Amino acid sequence: MAELGHDVLGIDVDASKLSKLEAGDLPFYEPGLEEVLRRNVASGKLRFSSSYDDAASWADVHFIGVGTPQKKGEHAADLQYVHGVVDRLAPLLVESAVIVGKSTVPVGTAHELGVRARALSPAGTAVEVAWNPEFLREGFAVQDTLRPDRLVLGLDVENPGVAESVVRNVYSSLIEDGIPFIVTDLATAELVKVSANAFLATKISFINAISELCDVAGADVTVLADAIGIDERIGRKFLNAGVGFGGGCLPKDIRAFMARAGELGADKALAFLREVDNINMGRRTRMVELVRKECGSLVGARVAVLGAAFKPNSDDVRDSPALNIAGQIQLQGATVTVYDPKAMENSRAIFPTLDYATSAREACSGADVVLVLTEWKEFAELRPSILDPLVRRKLIIDGRNCLDPSVWRSCGWQYRGMGRP
Ligand code: UGA
Repeated sequence: MAELGHDVLGIDVDASKLSKLEAGDLPFYEPGLEEVLRRNVASGKLRFSSSYDDAASWADVHFIGVGTPQKKGEHAADLQYVHGVVDRLAPLLVESAVIVGKSTVPVGTAHELGVRARALSPAGTAVEVAWNPEFLREGFAVQDTLRPDRLVLGLDVENPGVAESVVRNVYSSLIEDGIPFIVTDLATAELVKVSANAFLATKISFINAISELCDVAGADVTVLADAIGIDERIGRKFLNAGVGFGGGCLPKDIRAFMARAGELGADKALAFLREVDNINMGRRTRMVELVRKECGSLVGARVAVLGAAFKPNSDDVRDSPALNIAGQIQLQGATVTVYDPKAMENSRAIFPTLDYATSAREACSGADVVLVLTEWKEFAELRPSILDPLVRRKLIIDGRNCLDPSVWRSCGWQYRGMGRP
């Protein structure tokens, strides 16, 4: 927002994050974001505070960007943080105000929050709640924010006000550049977001299911994906078979979507998402079984795991297939050494019992099998000659189909992909 030219005050309850941000340091890894942060902190356009009073008295528009994780022991989304923001902010809004949600929420949440905010605020009906779902991808957050492929705004049709003109003004430079700006009602905006993620998850599980067919038929899923992807109606993106999707969004969003459909009496409509989830989780087990089969037994095997983040260019290990597989293999008796270019600290925090190496070479020293589970460029560009003198056995399993099998085989390695002969 500051980069788009606005004066921004970022509010957080975590004092350590605030002090890092004020010093121009990011509390997570995101390519290109630190430069944007530093530039805007230095110019004074971006400031940080823990004070809701500051936010309420100073801002014209309040964006909510807090997390909506999966509830413990349930599939539904945990809305405590979103509610927390409205409960603290609304009582301080003494004049007309616009609250715009960006968090991914179950359909119906924005309407409820509007009712709640108006009841809590001295300004009453002069408080509006609109919803502007976020579509950025980790690893491409800066580019997706400054050049989004679309903007969606949900408005409360029962309480029309100034929200549309306020948000149009916020995004005026993007709208002038021709970025599609879709204005709709609150429920549609909320559903656009979760439907987009459900579609992406379905696409990945589709190709992973086909990849299992390729395995039994001796076919190559990567060539198949290239061939079907040329059809524009299908498209090549999100057709990479492998150990499946993870992260803080796709897995929990499809589960929250199913849970909400159930609450609304439409669970049958989304029953297929259960299968999407099953296929996806099955990919992790399949990788563990593949390693067991290739090693004969996991007990005593030395396994090098390259990659821990849920995808490249991120240090995020939430529901990461790579880390999950590493953990399962270790629990079944193998010695597992993990290396990731950015996610080491986060991995250690949630999986302290795994061994961690400081480089790919160190992780592969003495290994009986090398697993590539996150397709970092550094791993895709690995050459067999670098690992040859280090490993105990020349066996590589490519959980992301990101290596060229002929390069490895021609150097005497056994190569296994997923859905590749
Ligand atoms: C996803 C969506 O792509 C964003 O549009 C959305 O804004 C975001 O969730 C969100 O809801 O906040 P993200 O979680 O950053 O973004 O990651 P993706 O690029 O979607 O990848 C998700 C997972 O799918 C990763 O584990 C990735 O390795 C896996 N994947 C992706 C595949 O297994 N195969 C593919 O072909 C593509």
